[in-house]
Amino acid sequence: MSRTAVGEVSDATTYRRLLALLSPFRWVVVVTILAMVADAVCMTLFAKEVKPLVDKLFVSRDPHMIFWMPIIIVSIFFVRSIAVYIESYGSAYVGRSVVQDMRRRIFDKYLRMPTTFFDRESSGQQISRITYTSEQVAQATTDSAKIAIVDGLTVVGLVAMMLWTSWLLTLALLVMVPSIGILVTYVSRRYRRINTTIQDVVGRVTGVVEEVVGAHREVKVFGGQDYEAKRFDDVTDRTRKLNIKVAATNGLSTAFVQLAAAIALALIVFFATRPFMAHRGLTAGGFMRLFMCMGGILPSLKRLTTVQSNIQRGLAAAQELFGIIDAPVERDEGTRVIELCRGDIEFRDVHLTYAGASTAALRGISLDCPPGSITALVGRSGSGKSSLASLIPRFYEPTSGEVLLDGHPLGDYTLRSLRAQIAWVGQDVVLFDDTIAKNIAYGALAGASEAAITAAAEAANAMEFVRELPAGIHSRVGEGGALLSGGQRQRIAVARALLKNAPILVLDEATSALDTESERLIQDALSRLMKNRTTLVIAHRLSTVEHADQIVVLDQGHIVERGTHVELLARGGKYAALYHLQFRDAATAAA
Ligand SMILES: Nc1ncnc2c1ncn2[C@@H]1O[C@H](COP(=O)(O)OP(=O)(O)OP(=O)(O)O)[C@@H](O)[C@H]1O
Ligand SMILES: [Mg+2]
Repeated sequence: MSRTAVGEVSDATTYRRLLALLSPFRWVVVVTILAMVADAVCMTLFAKEVKPLVDKLFVSRDPHMIFWMPIIIVSIFFVRSIAVYIESYGSAYVGRSVVQDMRRRIFDKYLRMPTTFFDRESSGQQISRITYTSEQVAQATTDSAKIAIVDGLTVVGLVAMMLWTSWLLTLALLVMVPSIGILVTYVSRRYRRINTTIQDVVGRVTGVVEEVVGAHREVKVFGGQDYEAKRFDDVTDRTRKLNIKVAATNGLSTAFVQLAAAIALALIVFFATRPFMAHRGLTAGGFMRLFMCMGGILPSLKRLTTVQSNIQRGLAAAQELFGIIDAPVERDEGTRVIELCRGDIEFRDVHLTYAGASTAALRGISLDCPPGSITALVGRSGSGKSSLASLIPRFYEPTSGEVLLDGHPLGDYTLRSLRAQIAWVGQDVVLFDDTIAKNIAYGALAGASEAAITAAAEAANAMEFVRELPAGIHSRVGEGGALLSGGQRQRIAVARALLKNAPILVLDEATSALDTESERLIQDALSRLMKNRTTLVIAHRLSTVEHADQIVVLDQGHIVERGTHVELLARGGKYAALYHLQFRDAATAAA
């Protein structure tokens, strides 16, 4: 996953904000940390008891100790098991809550991000942020914290215990420290390097799968199987190699740690049996305790080697997520609230250049759509029709010029109240994976009665096929409406717009997928709806726009002609040429 940090956040700030995320659970955190401390203390206490265990039970056979030792051992491990339970429960609780919190914040943000944000990034990236990246944050805040505290304290406790037992021998073992230090640095560097690459590759695996699943028809028809299989092989191969590298690094460090343990033990044996140690009173029990401590320290040290890189990874993930959380949402600075607008839309010298585009999509559009009128936008593909329509709900802001509604710039209205005025059928119909009824009564329309939904579906000529479905309007449409035909999807979208019954209606190729008869039926319903509404209709099939109050011909972002159907035909310009072309095609088809 590339760091498309929408905003950069510093390390210190990231730490502070992560801590802030924990603040709602501060008591859980405190109890969990106490349990972690108890865990480490128990380990140290047990190591301490090893000396009397050997010396008093086996060497001097002290009856008092023989009675108490089993009780002491069980007590230590009883306390420790409670501590371990609390520690696991607490860190899972905190970790999961942090993940949920992060996911909720990011999702919430996605709901309010400007359209340009969705143009800029692949959906794979946006999805993996919620599924994968937020998990990394949880790992850093809990798993790594757990290791850092428990293992860190265990090491400190056990080293202290060793020093107390025999500082001389312990210091002799310090010769091992530099080599372990070198190992730790090497391993954590290597981890960090591998991990950044793994994050990246995971994102790409998601991307490839998503594309293939989404475009499975194209893959089949255009014979893309080999290409996609190769592409997938490449990314999964990289994942495999990287994961093997991780395992190899792990194995290497385990092997090294074991070797170090063996050397340490050999050193203890060597020094402990030197004559100069004899009068320093190292008993058999003391020796065993040192041995135990060494055994306890090494696995902890090994885990500690991974902590730093995990925390680094979590920080990087958190930084990316905070970048999204801080990114500006859709501008919504307007304060004007309207119940019902008149529907007077005016474009004043509007220019639009998309971010990153070299040429302008709209160049100086001035257009008046009086209340209750129908304006048709026609023109070649790519001439800017959809772009012009998308300015009305403020999906995009004009680069210059302004759009007014009832005499006020669109930016003066609150987004919510502006968008409540608009019913929209987009060029690409988007249905939600739910029932037909829920799709028609979507969002703010959710309270609509079944009768109203059916009436809308009827008007959109959708009931004709909905009736045939096993569960009627309660049939599910599949992901993206995959269970319906293109024309059926369009009719559901039209029904949704009809149900909304808003003063402004935008139809971007709303009936393009329908046969002439269905289209005519919907046109009837639409023309009933269009009464008293300001309608912007985009169509390639000119027969559907003949009755518009004004027809606007766009070309390369300019308005090149405008007028009624009759006027434009009489003028004999682009519209007339286009119309005759289509008319001739229709005539040929009919013949
Ligand atoms: N989100 C976007 N980001 C960048 N450029 C865009 C975007 N949407 C459209 N464009 C570009 O703007 C120009 C106008 O596109 P637009 O979608 O408005 O055309 P259109 O008239 O609706 O065409 P069609 O009839 O094919 O739907 C095109 O050159 C297109 O490449
Ligand atoms: Mg378009």
